[in-house]
Amino acid sequence: MPTTDFLVIGSGIAGLSFALKVAGACPNCSVTVVTKANEGETNTKYAQGGIAVALDQYDSAEKHIQDTLKAGDGLCDEEVVNFVVREGPHQLEELMRLGTRFDRSDTGELDLAKEGGHSMNRVVHHKDITGLEIERALLKRVATMKNIRLLSHHFAIDLITEHHLEQEYTDERTCYGAYILNSHTNQVSTCTARTTLLALGGIGQVYGHTTNPVIATGDGIAMAYRARAEIMDMEFIQFHPTALYQPGVSPAFLISEAVRGFGAMLKTKNEDRFMFRYDDRGELASRDIVALAIDKELKNSGDECVYLDCRHLEMDAFQSHFPTIFQKCKLLGLDPAKDMIPVLPAAHYLCGGIKVDHFGRTSVKQLYACGENARTGLHGANRLASNSLLEALVFSERCFLKAMEDSSSPMDFRDVPEWDARGTITPKEHILIAHNRRELQAIMRDYVGIVRSDERLKRASSRLGLLYKETEHLYKSSTLSPQLCELRNLITTGYLIVSQSLKRRVNRGGYYNVDV
Ligand code: FAD
Ligand code: SIN
Repeated sequence: MPTTDFLVIGSGIAGLSFALKVAGACPNCSVTVVTKANEGETNTKYAQGGIAVALDQYDSAEKHIQDTLKAGDGLCDEEVVNFVVREGPHQLEELMRLGTRFDRSDTGELDLAKEGGHSMNRVVHHKDITGLEIERALLKRVATMKNIRLLSHHFAIDLITEHHLEQEYTDERTCYGAYILNSHTNQVSTCTARTTLLALGGIGQVYGHTTNPVIATGDGIAMAYRARAEIMDMEFIQFHPTALYQPGVSPAFLISEAVRGFGAMLKTKNEDRFMFRYDDRGELASRDIVALAIDKELKNSGDECVYLDCRHLEMDAFQSHFPTIFQKCKLLGLDPAKDMIPVLPAAHYLCGGIKVDHFGRTSVKQLYACGENARTGLHGANRLASNSLLEALVFSERCFLKAMEDSSSPMDFRDVPEWDARGTITPKEHILIAHNRRELQAIMRDYVGIVRSDERLKRASSRLGLLYKETEHLYKSSTLSPQLCELRNLITTGYLIVSQSLKRRVNRGGYYNVDV
């Protein structure tokens, strides 16, 4: 018997939505959700802008589809774009049924905001803390489900597939669950499951300068890669154009793209409004274009940041739509009514990841992936703003439908070995782990940023090779710790970004190499 019917790794929008769906449809099934930090500490919690859905009478699925395809720069899977956009409104209703509140106008209509790359106002939001509201509502609902067990501070180390079992090597792999480290007791347990869902979120921490919280260390992608699942499109890292400029502060606080949708202008310190030199849509061009334009302006001027100018906006309305951003500025002594806000691009989102089919199935049987760690084909070379929460909602439903069908397939758990704790040395020098993490981040920031070159990528590749060797040695000889596991996963993720970048010979969307 497996330990649990459904093992869900990750407690963001993707993991929790899936868990609620399977637990609701199958009251006799057990669902275990593990998460490595506090239950709410996720990228989801920090989402500001909202969820893109075509609802308005003037909008249409067709327009949303065209905007998504244009942002994706020719590399989206059109079928996926089509069904995600069309299934979005129903999934949004489901989310509201679960208790999520979105801002409404005086007449009760959903308030629709605008962001870069969108031809219409179509982003539903809860002020500028949409993700916090979603996470609140989902966790509240999860707490009422008797068949969901949510384990925080449980770190998934590795998936259990044939490479852990004493079975002959086959190309066809099956996932039997995962090894989980309880970070309070330091015990590793073997959690077997009929179905495993990877919903471990993003990778921003690979770059030191990121909007992502500290949990975003690419663990899902690295685990899937070790289990030999297919990983693709890793070269398409999305840099958000407007993270607040605060040297030395990590994660970087985001100034939502919805602020530009509200009318804020991007300027240099000399008040030159530069974006129209790069794109007719000005500040509301898609993110890849805006981030690259800022990068060029900064390289030309030698300045450290550019500015968001909100001074001309109606301040009461601004404050009511963006209370958190307004407050953050005030705390730092910036008054949006009088001062321009300093901003700089920061690593924000991974468009690629674990390759999945239209139902979230990876290339390993019984292993699904959903949310930011999955590469569904929706985003192509660049994600349209606010399309990722939408993607997580639509794909959690699709994963759920297929996983329910697949959950009765016969599986034999008898040969699943317990975790083999090879290393026994407790690393005395944590400085080695911390230093290698910082070194990795410096390599990625300096050599694998918005503008890449073959030489920089090759240099990154050889430096990462050294870090990999040192870290593997440490990993094999040491007792486990989440910090060491994360370092290993960060290096693997960095390696995948660099190696897939080197293979790309045409610049598209968020990928720009001066040598191709
Ligand atoms: P997450 O929400 O990141 O959840 C990942 C979970 O996996 C966490 O619980 C984490 O602890 C757990 N985990 C990770 N590793 C392990 C491990 N080894 N073991 C166990 N658990 C693990 N998108 C939009 O569409 N609209 C927006 O407005 C928007 N704003 C954003 C603003 C910010 C600042 C950021 C950072 C992102 C924003 N995004 C937005 C992107 C969006 O928030 C994310 O892509 C989405 O929330 C990812 O959801 P997820 O469920 O895949 O992962
Ligand atoms: C933002 O609010 O600018 C973030 C939106 C997104 O990442 O989709």
